[in-house]
Amino acid sequence: MMSAASFSLSTAPVVSPAPDAANCRRQADCARTAALAALRENDPVTKATATRALHAAVLAGQMTCSAGLELDEPPDLPGRPAQPELVDPRRLKRRSMQSPQGRAVLLHALAHIEFNAINLALDAVWRFAAMPAAFYTDWLKVAAEEAYHFSLLTARLAEYGHAYGDFPAHDGLWDMCERTRGEVLARMALVPRTLEARGLDASPPIRARLQQAGDHTSAAILDVILRDEIGHVLIGNHWFRHLCDQSGLDPHETYTRLAGQYHAPKLRGPFNFEARRDAGFDEAELAALADLDLGQPLPSASPD
Ligand SMILES: [Fe+2]
Ligand SMILES: [Fe+2]
Repeated sequence: MMSAASFSLSTAPVVSPAPDAANCRRQADCARTAALAALRENDPVTKATATRALHAAVLAGQMTCSAGLELDEPPDLPGRPAQPELVDPRRLKRRSMQSPQGRAVLLHALAHIEFNAINLALDAVWRFAAMPAAFYTDWLKVAAEEAYHFSLLTARLAEYGHAYGDFPAHDGLWDMCERTRGEVLARMALVPRTLEARGLDASPPIRARLQQAGDHTSAAILDVILRDEIGHVLIGNHWFRHLCDQSGLDPHETYTRLAGQYHAPKLRGPFNFEARRDAGFDEAELAALADLDLGQPLPSASPD
């Protein structure tokens, strides 16, 4: 199996001078450079394997993240395979979960989301310099968990006789990544706290439909993913608030401003309030969502 240390850095971009960049460039232990190389990798299995190995190497102290490193953006981000074909979301048909083909299409769509999620988390690691060390290890952890989710879903998809790339997909997730490329505050607000948080809401009804169709194995995979995704949104909330605190910004006003400025998708219920509460949204934010979704009262926090 490929180790993170052996993961090819030959495609790494030109490194601009920065306080500790020269040191990092000489060494094979810069995890932010390796994150960019993994992001550029086209083959999904190689990307997922390299991402998990990279996180393991950082945990083991074999690689470190250099916050001072400023990397130039290569023109070909993100690395992805020739298939699936990327199409307008309106061209993607919703299929019944009662048929095996319909469930395979759903598993493929979820695998595509996870593939994008690997890219989004790796992008946060390489792109944003001058963040605390924990920012990089947090997003490497997220990237490794997304790679795990991708592997769970593609293994299940294989049991349906299909592989990643067999069905068309859309590119909405990477689009938000591009829009927020210049501002880490906007990235934290709109990718984990908006798009990944939508996944928390979407999970229970999808899980129920799989269960209803008798696919308990796929439903159990969704349980694993939901548990981890709560952690991802929690990490997003943590860094969003950290950045707001640092700049003396009010997080509620700032979120509203950024959602408008970057054309974030409008939030629609039903919301998974319990998961959102566990993921670090505060009571004022949850109450605002309950107001958006008039049919759904805000459940009170359960006592610990
Ligand atoms: Fe995921
Ligand atoms: Fe995630």
